[in-house]
Order: sequence, then structure tokens, then C-alpha cells
Amino acid sequence: MHPVLTALGLNDTESGTYLGNSEWSQTRDAGVLEPVNPTTGEVLGKVHASSRADYDTMMARADAAFKAWRKVPAPKRGEAIRLCADALRANKDALGSLVALEMGKSKPEGDGEVQEMIDIGEFAVGLSRQLYGLTMHSERPGHRMYEQWHPIGIVGVISAFNFPVAVWAWNSFVAAVCGNITVWKPSPKTPLSAIASMKICNAALKAAGFPDIFFLFNDAGTELAQDFVDDKRVALVSFTGSTKVGRIVGERVARRMGRSLLELGGNNAIIVDESADLKLAIPAIVFGAVGTCGQRCTTTRRLIVHESIYDNVLAKLITAYGQVEGKIGDPTNPANLVGPLNSSDAVDAFLDSIAKAKAAGGNVEIGGTAIEGKGFFVKPAIVTGLGNDAEVVQHETFAPILYVMKYSDIDQAIDMQNAVPQGLSSAIFTTDLKRAEAFLAATGSDCGIANVNIGTSGAEIGGAFGGEKETGGGRESGSDAWKAYMRRQTNTINYSDALPLAQGIKFDF
Ligand code: UN1
Repeated sequence: MHPVLTALGLNDTESGTYLGNSEWSQTRDAGVLEPVNPTTGEVLGKVHASSRADYDTMMARADAAFKAWRKVPAPKRGEAIRLCADALRANKDALGSLVALEMGKSKPEGDGEVQEMIDIGEFAVGLSRQLYGLTMHSERPGHRMYEQWHPIGIVGVISAFNFPVAVWAWNSFVAAVCGNITVWKPSPKTPLSAIASMKICNAALKAAGFPDIFFLFNDAGTELAQDFVDDKRVALVSFTGSTKVGRIVGERVARRMGRSLLELGGNNAIIVDESADLKLAIPAIVFGAVGTCGQRCTTTRRLIVHESIYDNVLAKLITAYGQVEGKIGDPTNPANLVGPLNSSDAVDAFLDSIAKAKAAGGNVEIGGTAIEGKGFFVKPAIVTGLGNDAEVVQHETFAPILYVMKYSDIDQAIDMQNAVPQGLSSAIFTTDLKRAEAFLAATGSDCGIANVNIGTSGAEIGGAFGGEKETGGGRESGSDAWKAYMRRQTNTINYSDALPLAQGIKFDF
């Protein structure tokens, strides 16, 4: 058994269902998940999937938990989340290592992901005293009007392998201070990181006498997950994953008039203009394109460079990629910058896109091959010679492929940046104030995230995270994203002795 599992108190065979009441399911016949260490291709451990009976028990307990939790004052709910953040801080090194091991991201990025959990926890603590509603002036005398925010119930979180723990924390910590219960279905590729996170938080809650607010199930097929999406008890389904699956989730939830929060694919671009400070731009591009081996939804996939500096930028990038190639390897070794792709399917998708890019007339300037030997390692690729409208450029391949293109004027660059189906993250590198503002204006980037002199990935938790168009329109994490987890109620109170109707309507009888 891997020592990281031991450090977190996990076994090499785990139950994948947290039923509540400190009980993990004993089901052994509903299928087994076998998360693979992408560095070696070996199975890391086994996780027993949930049965229908497990699901029913868990949902009934989650439902009952909500009826109690919604009565707990929000600042007290914040206290519960403070304890979770403290417990995660105490386990940051071990949990960060498990994320690196199971997902394949570098150890600093694994630790960084746990840091995001701690940060959103602390954000949620503050938020628990700031779930503000507005007061309005009534048009009627002797009337008061205001709005308040109430919890919505069970929040379902379906998360992806690439951020196996942080996305749950963004959702569940904010949902919890809002008075909700979270039921989590993690990616079948990273169930161990999910189970470890649940155990850390549940132990902290239990030690302080807090009730269950987090539940977990894992399914080995698609049926339970589908039923989860269709389950009317799940007031909000927060889904992170591909546009293809997200479209199905969104449609199914809409059919039952539920709420969904969709965080789907990105096709993020950086524009580099002729005034850009390349000391900032080059490292931002390299981190954005090859960090997490190109498996962030915010990964930089397209680079739009002014023609006057194109050759210089390309040469610098090729040099930097050459240096990165020497630091591809076991992500749990802090000396490495880039780990493997998460699965052999991802390697196939990478190679397939490289082949399509070549067939469309693209030139692979560096990388673009799989690395022989154990694990799912590839060499990050830079591809030139394709137009923005090439099919492969329009498509999100969840792997490190950077398409580098030229432009001649800034309006053309902004049009290119926007001319993809996705709308998550975007950036411009410029020292020209007018161009920076043009990029951020209503006529500029159409993305949910638009940065100046910062790359496309690595967003802070304090802002609302999400994107437009086929990225799904959801916002989670900071700012006022909490409103997605609550229902707004408008209240009008008449403290006069008359009953005036709104809009001056007379109704005398
Ligand atoms: C994701 O890839 O699903 O902005 C989330 C970032 C991270 C989150 C990415 N904070 O790159």
C-alpha cells in the first residue's frame, strides 16, 4: 500500500459511500473502482461503489440532516467550516501528496489545491456573517419590503478528476454556511482523494459535536449518477466536466425545474501584443499551457501573438518547452514541473489531436509525442500554422497542446480570442493602457475571466469562477456566487391599518 494512503488513515480497499451517522457502507457487490496511479499505470487501491440501497439511505439521511442544519444560525455553520479548514491545514502535506499521486499533478500543485480548500473554507467563515439581502422602499404607506436568503436543501456536487478535491470545497463549504447539505459524487478516477477529504472534514465536525453535513457516494456505472441528476431532492446540481456531459446534465436538471451550476470546457487564449513585457508573458504562457499537464479547464490552449514579435515569442517558447522536457516525471517528486496525463485514454486523445493538427497543415514545433515507458507521460506540444477556425483548434483537447497564431491588429486578435464555442478564461499581455481596457470592455473578451498581464489559469478563490457560452454559465467560489446556493424570498409587511393595493389598484366592495 502506498505510504500516502497510510498517512491519511486510508486502506487499500475503501468504502465509497458515506451514509451519515459516522457510518461508511459495507456494500461489496455494487462494483469496484480502481483508481490508477498515472505515473506507473498501477492500481492504487480499490473503492467499493455504492448500491441503490446505499444511495437511498444516504439521501434519506441527507434530507433529514437538511431539516436540522437549516435551523443552525449561519455564523455557527461558519464555525463548522472553520474547523474543516483547520483540519485541512493540518493535513495539507499528506492530502496534497495524495492528489499529486492519484491525479498526477505536481506536488506543489497538489498542495496548492488543498490550499484552495483552506482558502475557500476561510472565505466561507466570513461569508457566514454576510449573507446579506437588500431592503427596498415600498410604494405603499406603512409597508416595509425586504428580501432574505434561505437555504435550498441538498446540493449535489459532481466533480472531475483534474481538481479532485478543491471543486468540492468551493461548492460544499459555501453551500454549508448557506444552510445546505452536500452530496458528492467524485470522479471515478480520483475517489481516494475524495474519501480522504471527507474523512478529514467529517472527523473535525464530529469531534466538535457538529452533525453530518457532507455525504459521499461513488458509482461504478452511470445509472446511480443519472438518478442523482434526476433526483428532485437535489435542489442544485453543480457539475464540473466536459461540455458534452454537462449539456446532458443541464437538460435533465432543467426538465425537473431544478437548478444547475455548470463548469464545462474552456478554450482559453492569451493575446500578446507588441508592447508586452515578455519577462512576464513567457512564464505565464508556459505555466498556463503545460501546468497540470494541460488538464485544467483554464489551461492556455491558444496563443495569439502580434506579427511583429511572433518569431521572437515562438523561439523563446520553444526554448522554455525544451527546459520543461527535462522536468517531466513523477509528480510527487517536487523537482518535476509536469506529471503524466491522468489516463491512457487522455494520451490517445492527445495523440489524436496532434495527428489531426498535422493533417490540417499544422507544424509541431516541439513535443507532441508520448514518452515510452511506464505511466501516461507526454511531451507538451506547440503547434503553429493553423487558423483559429481549424476544427482541432476550436475543440478542447484536455492535454498540453498550444496553438500559436499571428495577428496584425488588436480588434482582429480580440475577435479571434472570442471566436470559439467556449468562454471560460482569457488574458492579454500588454503595457498599452488602451489595449488593456479594450480587452476588458463590453466589446472585448467574452469570457467569464479576463486578465491583464496574468495567464489564463490559476484563478484566486475570492472571485466568482466560471464562464460563458459552452462553458455553461455557472459561477462558483468567491464574490456573490453564494447566491446560487440559496433561494431569495421577497417579503412585504403591512404595519398600517389600511390595505392599499400596489399599482394604485382600487378594489372596493
Ligand atoms: C478547473 O480546472 O476545473 O483557475 C478549475 C484555476 C484553478 C481552478 C481550475 N484555480 O486554474
